[in-house]
Amino acid sequence: MIIDFTLNGSTRSVNVTSAERASDVLIGKCGIKSIQTDCMSGFCGRCMIIKDGLPVPSCLIPAFLLKGSSILTLESYRNNAIYEHLVIELDHMGILPCRHCRNAKLLYAMYLITRPATVLLEDAVRELSSIPCACTDTRTLAAKVIAIRGEHPSGRMSHAHL
Ligand code: FES
Repeated sequence: MIIDFTLNGSTRSVNVTSAERASDVLIGKCGIKSIQTDCMSGFCGRCMIIKDGLPVPSCLIPAFLLKGSSILTLESYRNNAIYEHLVIELDHMGILPCRHCRNAKLLYAMYLITRPATVLLEDAVRELSSIPCACTDTRTLAAKVIAIRGEHPSGRMSHAHL
């Protein structure tokens, strides 16, 4: 079946099968390079996307459920000043996540930094823990996310409508 959805602000029309997952389609048919897959069962978090304003592992979503949705991947934040600030700060602190989980953690961090709803430190720790790679101390990362969020109040946006 052919489905239409919005990917990083652009309308996409893609032919999908019932056997495909959203991660298959986004990587294989839409050319998204920031998504990685490993466990294919929702545990590693490396395939994280923002679907209709909420982070979710794309390996858990049947591809047909992309229909009519708004999807954000890390590509949507490239060339974004807040994203560049985040990467520089994490690199400077020596807590830039490893190559296996980096894209997923940076996407989730940007989601937390820019979402309109209040984000407390414990919220950020809990949410970032959904990407359980141990390369980075989650509390330190979460604290930096909260700090950068505080420095960029004008960056908050509705992810569902990007
Ligand atoms: S591949 Fe591990 S959560 Fe999707």
